Amino acid sequence: VERAFGGGPLAGRRVLVTSGPTHEPIDPVRYIANRSSGAQGTAIARALADLGAEVVFVTGPAEVSPPPGVEVVAVETAEEMRAAVHDALPVDGAVFAAAVADWRVANASGSKMKKTAGALPELELTQNPDILAEIAGLGSDRPALVVGFAAETDDVVANATAKRRRKGCDWLLANDVSPATGIMGGTENRITFITEDGAEDWPREGKDAVARRLAGMMAEALA
Ligand code: CTP
Ligand code: CA
Repeated sequence: VERAFGGGPLAGRRVLVTSGPTHEPIDPVRYIANRSSGAQGTAIARALADLGAEVVFVTGPAEVSPPPGVEVVAVETAEEMRAAVHDALPVDGAVFAAAVADWRVANASGSKMKKTAGALPELELTQNPDILAEIAGLGSDRPALVVGFAAETDDVVANATAKRRRKGCDWLLANDVSPATGIMGGTENRITFITEDGAEDWPREGKDAVARRLAGMMAEALA
């Protein structure tokens, strides 16, 4: 109802959300990717729009459809995602929920590679740009609030604390994706919320609830 009247605590704020996987082509029919349904990023974009924000939603090839009421920019590769993110600036806040492929194939083939008995393709990998770190490191164009995600196993807090510093983002939402938690590919998340002040455990809850919690905190921070 608030949105119909252009209200809400994020009215007048422009935010960016990246979501989904990226696909890095090997040839026209094969690719390298991370597992990602796009559900958490989509829920965050919806929750931000529900609070009145103008949302630019940069999404890789996800399983779930983008929410209504956001500007959708569909991309395939990490390099396309990077370009779309830069095009969306300036924004007040940015959430990097995409599962960006860390590597792409430098010698991707324009035509379909044929398998031959006894011979394997020689794929040459190169590292993709770190979009989050790049945006968090911007000078005057840096969004006031930069939020990253991290899927971790083992020592989640230590890994995520180091990752937040390395990336230079303000907040990092770390997810324990150890197989025993059953989080990976599920409908719930258990977030450890990392800032420069330390780590805080959020309750295990649905991705929509995580999204609403984050959007509410972003509205407070950007008020
Ligand atoms: N990210 C990004 N661009 C990349 C890789 C990651 O923007 N090329 C963002 C993700 O959207 C996420 C955060 O960075 O918000 C952390 O991603 P993650 O894969 O956990 O971090 P990496 O630095 O790639 O470390 P790892 O070796 O653990 O994969
Ligand atoms: Ca990665």
